[in-house]
Amino acid sequence: MTDDFVVDVSRIRDEARKKMDEGPVTQTYGSDKDRVIQVLNEVLATEVVCWLRYTRHAIVATGIDRAQVSDEFTEHAKEELNHALMAAERISQLGGDPDFDPQTLQQRTQTDYTAPPDGDLKQMLKDNLLAERIVISTYQEIIRWLSDRDPTSRRVMEKILEEEEDHADDLLDLIGG
Ligand SMILES: [Fe+2]
Ligand SMILES: [Fe+2]
Repeated sequence: MTDDFVVDVSRIRDEARKKMDEGPVTQTYGSDKDRVIQVLNEVLATEVVCWLRYTRHAIVATGIDRAQVSDEFTEHAKEELNHALMAAERISQLGGDPDFDPQTLQQRTQTDYTAPPDGDLKQMLKDNLLAERIVISTYQEIIRWLSDRDPTSRRVMEKILEEEEDHADDLLDLIGG
């Protein structure tokens, strides 16, 4: 490989003047913007559902380890909500509409809202671990798909993925695996 990187300044300056209303999205944006927005809205829906599930589980948890598990669920819930906001912020930067419509959350989410009866701790831990494993796989695929075509969206997803892996690890510790 030879070092042949050359920036065509006059072309870039000309292109930058066009479509100024697209803000940070320039001619060099390498992905399918509408598809990225759609995928990020699925991430947003998934994170909102995860926030709802963890929040409920934290409140209804019963049993001998209730306090410890409930604290962990509360912490995860906060982070899931933050993930939803990170996805929403990026959608907005790309000129899209962050979709918080409760009527379509269910169709867009990749994980289920589960409500085990009687605050069953073991079942809740399992449900959440399954959900975390689903988002880990999904987000890894999104990151590979984004590749280097939209590095900022990819970094947002990488940051979220890192925390989901942490969540799965916390849950496994609590399950006693
Ligand atoms: Fe999350
Ligand atoms: Fe998570």
